[in-house]
Amino acid sequence: MQLITGISELVVNDLDTLGALNVVEDAAVLIGGGRILWSGPSAQADTALHDHLGDADSTPAEVVNDDDIENGTLTSASAGVELETIDLGGKAVVPGFVDSHNHLIFAGDRSAEFAARMAGEKYSAGGIATTVAATRAASDEELEANLVHLMSQATRQGTTTFEIKSGYGLTVKDEVRALEIINRHTEESTLIAAHVVPPEFKENPQAYVDLVIDEIIPAAIGQAKWIDVFCEKGAFTEDQTRRIIEAGKAAGMKPRLHANQLTDGGALRLGAELGCVSVDHATFASDEDLAALAEAGTVVTLLPSIEFSTRQPYPDARRYVEAGVSLAIATDCNPGSGFSNSIPFTIAIGVRDMHFTVEQAVWAVTAGGANALQRTDVGHLGAGAQADLAILDAPSYRHLAYRPGVQLVERVYRGGELVA
Ligand code: NIG
Ligand code: FE
Repeated sequence: MQLITGISELVVNDLDTLGALNVVEDAAVLIGGGRILWSGPSAQADTALHDHLGDADSTPAEVVNDDDIENGTLTSASAGVELETIDLGGKAVVPGFVDSHNHLIFAGDRSAEFAARMAGEKYSAGGIATTVAATRAASDEELEANLVHLMSQATRQGTTTFEIKSGYGLTVKDEVRALEIINRHTEESTLIAAHVVPPEFKENPQAYVDLVIDEIIPAAIGQAKWIDVFCEKGAFTEDQTRRIIEAGKAAGMKPRLHANQLTDGGALRLGAELGCVSVDHATFASDEDLAALAEAGTVVTLLPSIEFSTRQPYPDARRYVEAGVSLAIATDCNPGSGFSNSIPFTIAIGVRDMHFTVEQAVWAVTAGGANALQRTDVGHLGAGAQADLAILDAPSYRHLAYRPGVQLVERVYRGGELVA
């Protein structure tokens, strides 16, 4: 068991209410068996500790007196329960970030495309084909090493839950191998074989849609938890999207969508209609779109790094909040439209340029991400949650937005284990 004390601000979170961080000042957290056993005001920590000493082990522990508790590590001899106490001396603690939208499995580099964009070129999803070619040519080992490297970078930035998409293979074999590798590192695996039409199907996109439905989805059963489609001009039409999402659902996958990233089409409303758990990007959204999404209870996942890196207009989060939609923020880390895997970066831009309040942004990358993945065990630090948390080198969670570009994540625990 671990007792973390000296927390200046503990963000506990209420998963149901946007921006409800439920901050406890002068707080402590008790961890056992990889879970949060208790979190609350320091003044109640001793009582909580005595109540839970038996929980981390099947054998009840002997009562430990308060003097012992302050002394670092102690072992309750009769029960074999070891208690580690960690005094942070006044640092903020937030739930580990839930990055609910990532494309971390790929090979190759598109930094020249980024540089050209900054020099005035427009983003077009056409660059995806470059990554597809490099990914197909890469070995399994290369792909996995790149994935692990990007995940560990993100972990150092506080991310503890990752959704990861396929989508740079676009053949039965290459999509399935991407999913197999993803599944070794996260349970949130997404099939997005409908990312773009691959070059070999350029003359006959409909045949690729048929391949996705008749071969790729069936081959991915049991390998993909989620089905996703890039519904956009130049990628997949609304009719094609509907067919693919329905086929994925019939195969037991849960639906999510890339919607209204580049144009103001009907993809958001389609996402609401198809029962998507989340529609992502939503860079362009009409009042009718937002009303439909609020009505359907679909999470809208905004991706600040993408507008940053494509120079598209930032959506104004205040409109989405006023419309009553449920919001999340994720990185969408990918080699083309935005190659940042830093959640703190998204918080800073979300606040500065999308007009999230600091509280809404911190909530959106934790509780919001959990909602976007239908998870209730992550994204908060209430009793029973997975012990995923980030200790900040700062007295307040507000510093995540206030001090952009500064490495504020000092230590990260996942399932009670120190991982960064
Ligand atoms: O989410 N929009 C489609 N897919 C990615 C971009 C992929 C790429 O450019 O390689 C995205 O932005
Ligand atoms: Fe994406």
